[in-house]
Amino acid sequence: MHLTREEEKIYDGELGWAYQVSMRILVKLGDLYGADNLIPIESAHISGVSYKTIGDAAIDFLEALAGSDVKTSVTATTNPAGIDYENAIFTSLSGDIIKKQKRIINLYAKMGIKASLTCTPYYIKAPRCGAHLSWAESSAVVYANSMIGAWTNREGGPSALASALIGKTPNYGLHKPENRQAAVLVKVEAELRDESDYGALGIYLGKILKDKIPLIQGLPSNEEGCLKQMGAAMATSGMVSMFHVGRNDMRLMREMETINVEDRNLCEAREGLSISPEKPDLIFIGCPHCSLNELKQIAEAIKGKKVRNDVKLWVCTSRFIRNKAKEYVDVVESSGGQVICDTCAVVTWLRDLNVKTLMTNSAKTAYYAPSLNGVKVVFSPLTECINVACQK
Ligand code: F3S
Repeated sequence: MHLTREEEKIYDGELGWAYQVSMRILVKLGDLYGADNLIPIESAHISGVSYKTIGDAAIDFLEALAGSDVKTSVTATTNPAGIDYENAIFTSLSGDIIKKQKRIINLYAKMGIKASLTCTPYYIKAPRCGAHLSWAESSAVVYANSMIGAWTNREGGPSALASALIGKTPNYGLHKPENRQAAVLVKVEAELRDESDYGALGIYLGKILKDKIPLIQGLPSNEEGCLKQMGAAMATSGMVSMFHVGRNDMRLMREMETINVEDRNLCEAREGLSISPEKPDLIFIGCPHCSLNELKQIAEAIKGKKVRNDVKLWVCTSRFIRNKAKEYVDVVESSGGQVICDTCAVVTWLRDLNVKTLMTNSAKTAYYAPSLNGVKVVFSPLTECINVACQK
């Protein structure tokens, strides 16, 4: 990979160990994927923030980096952590966990990385259409590429962090226009009724597509929340980092491999996600973190109802959105739900918080929670989640 004189100096350690390690990570990645150079990025989004997912070894690495006085070169944001420090629910976690999670957040902050602690950084500040990014968090990657028109590969936590410090990323994959074309035509013939059907569709497609880019036709609606669920799910069961919806060049479409999605495919995907007939003890909405509009929908659905005493209702969002949505937050919380920030059901310690069965409208959470959290899952649309939470 070609490096400028300036980049070579960093590579050789003239700016210190931390920048050198970062540059070496990027060059290694670039060499591996055949990039010819590094390109500047507008922002980085870093995953690997929850102590639950990264553990002690990562803290040592972050200590070493932050200890050598490095600073980000571009705007950098963080994915959710394992704790909402302003919510009393989490005070029951062990003191060691509470301390170490704080340490991680502080180490990122020391390097100039914002403690945004959300998987939807695009609701805080959307990147420009056409901007190059280095984002980890697969759901945000697919959203940025497909719904904003920004350009990012699906980074890992370390490469996104290296890019945040250097301000650049290797030029390969989705940073090149020729790699952003659809490779598979998806014809949706199944009936999609709500956001959870879009999630189930995403899970079904992700398994088949692996990392191929689909052009999806036949969606009844392009509503933002539904497409967000579909994209997040595709990036969960597969490695999909981008999708197109609508029409394309007829000639290209004729040459593309085609997948037809029928009702029975969706049904199978749904059944695979709902593994428990048991009553949930936690109902979780907000994966990926809720938008202002989603909070409004939840508030409208729950207004005038009461959450049962034997079940918890969590609605997860960023602190930024929570602060903008006071009116909706009040409705949810006066009904007995909790609007939780900076974390989510997947990256916190659910079993330590006494959760055994989770109900959610998120296909991504339904897919991950049994293995990552050791809980049983019921997968249902938002309306059903609210009904169950408030059943008399
Ligand atoms: Fe976000 Fe947690 Fe889902 S990080 S995408 S809410 S698993």
